[in-house]
Amino acid sequence: MAEETLTITDNRTGRRYDVPIRNGAIAATDLQKITSNGSGSGLLSYDPAFLNTASCRSAITFIDGERSILRYRGYPVEELAERSSFLEVAYLLIHGELPDPTQHGQWVDAITHHTLLHENIKKLIDGFHHDAHPMGILVGTVGALSTFYPDAKDIFNEASRRLQILRLIAKMPTLAAFAARHAVGMPYAYPDNDLSYAGNFLNMMWKATELKYEPNPVLERALDILLILHADHEQNCSTNVMRAVGSAHADPFSATAAAAAALYGPLHGGANEQVLRMLKEIGSVSRVSEYVKRVRSGELRLMGFGHRVYKNYDPRAQIIKKVADDVLAVTGRSPLLDIALELERVALADDYFIKHRLYPNVDFYSGIIYSAIGFPVEMFPVLFAIGRTPGWLAQWQEGLLDPEQKIARPRQVYTGSPERHLPGIRAAKAEAGTSAS
Ligand code: ACO
Repeated sequence: MAEETLTITDNRTGRRYDVPIRNGAIAATDLQKITSNGSGSGLLSYDPAFLNTASCRSAITFIDGERSILRYRGYPVEELAERSSFLEVAYLLIHGELPDPTQHGQWVDAITHHTLLHENIKKLIDGFHHDAHPMGILVGTVGALSTFYPDAKDIFNEASRRLQILRLIAKMPTLAAFAARHAVGMPYAYPDNDLSYAGNFLNMMWKATELKYEPNPVLERALDILLILHADHEQNCSTNVMRAVGSAHADPFSATAAAAAALYGPLHGGANEQVLRMLKEIGSVSRVSEYVKRVRSGELRLMGFGHRVYKNYDPRAQIIKKVADDVLAVTGRSPLLDIALELERVALADDYFIKHRLYPNVDFYSGIIYSAIGFPVEMFPVLFAIGRTPGWLAQWQEGLLDPEQKIARPRQVYTGSPERHLPGIRAAKAEAGTSAS
């Protein structure tokens, strides 16, 4: 059998090196032994956006971007979206296996009973400006939770980790709904323990004066599916942040705040908000071709298209398209969906998109569903954050418990000035006859 090694010849020195290959990867630290003169710190690999660098080993999520495959703990996301619930998927991501009925009951019960927030968090939200973006409020308040739960610092205590995981999954929707109601000046609606995770979120968003809020079952299920589809996506930008902050042994509330801040960016979780703005800007099906021409000329990017990993259809986008039909059957057809369908049709037939292998990603249709359910665009990244929380926590815990993980601390290729000196020191050095470059 062929040896699992890579032989590298350094043409500067003529030396050859054998580097072991494990799990389809070489260890970047094995390159350190490759030096130009036998000393020094050795060769670095340069990969500013982690385009081809594995930052960890992980048993949580598998993606094959060429074949449109996404699996959580081995289960295809399509099966989970069809047959499972968000809380069951959250359990799966965190524990590695689906829960049995007893475990499921205990898990749902524990999350349901951690949904309340400390009343001071309400005061904190009250302090935000009336037009504060809810994602900004979420980032601030989830970070603030760390001050309410100092026990969360006990990250190597399994029971403490479990408690913080329950708290975070339970409280994210409450923080999110309170942030949304703050923007419209509505009194905060407290959680209703009789409802499902998604149903309760709809309750906290829209309960008005009625004694009991009754979520529409189609919209409740659609939201649950969207949360499942967003639950994890291996080492994406925000998850990488979660692991990096976690690697410094920060508490999970602080790490989640950092991950949510990364998700806020328009190239990541902010994209669904941008998709809706884009569809509104296009305004009608007849203007789609003209818009695609502007994208092709490099003037703008088509939001909701393209992905670092998927060079084929994002499997989540396929499922979401079907959910959009179910939701719009209840809420009424949206002209934005017609624009989106035409945009997809024109783009997928266009040379530029074919050459760049750009397909719709998860965000392309999710905004249309959120909007049809009634969420304001500012809430879109917040919804993404609720869905991604179990994934962040599973990855955070996996990183903490992995003996190979250390504090994340990349190297750099220095391109700045060589040593130089302040004028007075340079003059003194020149006078003393020492080098003063
Ligand atoms: N519209 C037009 N052109 C695009 C798009 C797009 N949406 N995405 C990529 N390209 C082009 C780039 O201009 C570049 O072209 P070039 O090689 O001729 O210069 C090429 O495709 C590669 O693009 P990169 O930016 O290098 O690809 P990268 O993997 O770094 O970026 C990203 C991936 C950020 C998702 C990108 O496709 C993008 O900006 N998409 C729009 C924003 C979006 O939808 N983000 C959501 C991502 S999914 C998520 O986070 C849940």
